[in-house]
Amino acid sequence: MGKLDGKVVLITGAASGIGRASAIRMALEGAAVMCADIDLNGARDTAIRIAQDGSNAAASLELDVAIEADVKAALQTTVDELGGLNVIFNNAGIGGNEAGWDKTIMVNLTGVYHGLFHGAPFLAARGGGSIINTASVAGLVGLTGIQTGEPAELQPGAGAYVAAKHGVTGLTRQYAVTFALQGVRVNAIAPGYIETPMTAPVRETEEVERYIESLHPMGRIGQPEEIAAAAVFLASDDSSFITGIVLPVDGGYTAR
Ligand SMILES: NC(=O)c1ccc[n+]([C@@H]2O[C@H](COP(=O)([O-])OP(=O)(O)OC[C@H]3O[C@@H](n4cnc5c(N)ncnc54)[C@H](O)[C@@H]3O)[C@@H](O)[C@H]2O)c1
Repeated sequence: MGKLDGKVVLITGAASGIGRASAIRMALEGAAVMCADIDLNGARDTAIRIAQDGSNAAASLELDVAIEADVKAALQTTVDELGGLNVIFNNAGIGGNEAGWDKTIMVNLTGVYHGLFHGAPFLAARGGGSIINTASVAGLVGLTGIQTGEPAELQPGAGAYVAAKHGVTGLTRQYAVTFALQGVRVNAIAPGYIETPMTAPVRETEEVERYIESLHPMGRIGQPEEIAAAAVFLASDDSSFITGIVLPVDGGYTAR
C-alpha cells in the first residue's frame, strides 16, 4: 500500500531536480501526478518515466507560474485529466543568480502566491487537501558568501532569492492559518543545497563545492530524493495534524 494511494498531485517545476524526483516518488507511493513546468518537454519526460515505471497515471502540462491564468487553469486541467486534485506542490523556482530582482520575485514568490491564492480555495471547495511550497534555507536565514567568502549581498541575486524565499515561508504560515478550518493544510520544505541543475554552477570548482559542503554539518549536499521523501510525508495523511510548518531538510544547515 502506498502512502498516497488514491490522491492526485499537481507539481510545478516537475521537469527537473526536486520536482522530477518528487513526481516519481509520489507516483511510486500511489498518487496520480500532473507534471507541470515551463519546460513542457521536460515535464513530458517525467510523466513518461512514471508511465514506464508502471507505477501510476501521470500527465503533463505547460505553465509559467508567474502567469496567474496559467496556474489557475492548471488546477482544473488536473481535475479534468486525472479525475481529482488533493495535493499541490508549488515547487518551481529559479536560482537568484540567473535573473534580476523582478524576475526572481515574480517566479519564486509571486509564482507560489498564485498557487496558494487559487489553489487553497480550490482544494477547500473539494473538501480539503495539502499544499506544499518549496522554500529554502534562504527562507529562514541569510546566505553566506559562496565564492570564497565573498559577502552574499555582493553576489547578483542573493538578496532577491532570500527575500523571495522568506516571502514563501510567510505565505505558508498565513495560508495555513486562513485555511485550517477548511481542511487545507499548508506547509513548506526548506532544502539545504541539493544536487540539481540549479546548483551545478557551485559544483563547478572543487574549492566552492567543498565550501558549500562545509555549510552543512552533515558534510555533504543533499539529493533531490531526500526532498521528495519529505514532500511525500507532507502530502500524506501521516502529517494530518501538521500545518504552517517550514521543514528544514538541510543536513543541519540551519541548526547552527
Ligand atoms: N537545488 C537547491 O539547492 C535548492 C535549495 C533550496 C531550494 N531550492 C528550490 O527548489 C525548487 C526546485 O529547484 P531545483 O533545484 O529542483 O531546480 P531545477 O532547476 O532542477 O528545477 C526547477 C524547475 O522549475 C522550472 N521553472 C523555472 N521557472 C518556471 C516558471 N516560471 N514556471 C514553471 N516552471 C518553472 C524549470 O523549468 C525547472 O524544471 C526551487 O523553488 C528552488 O528555489 C533548491
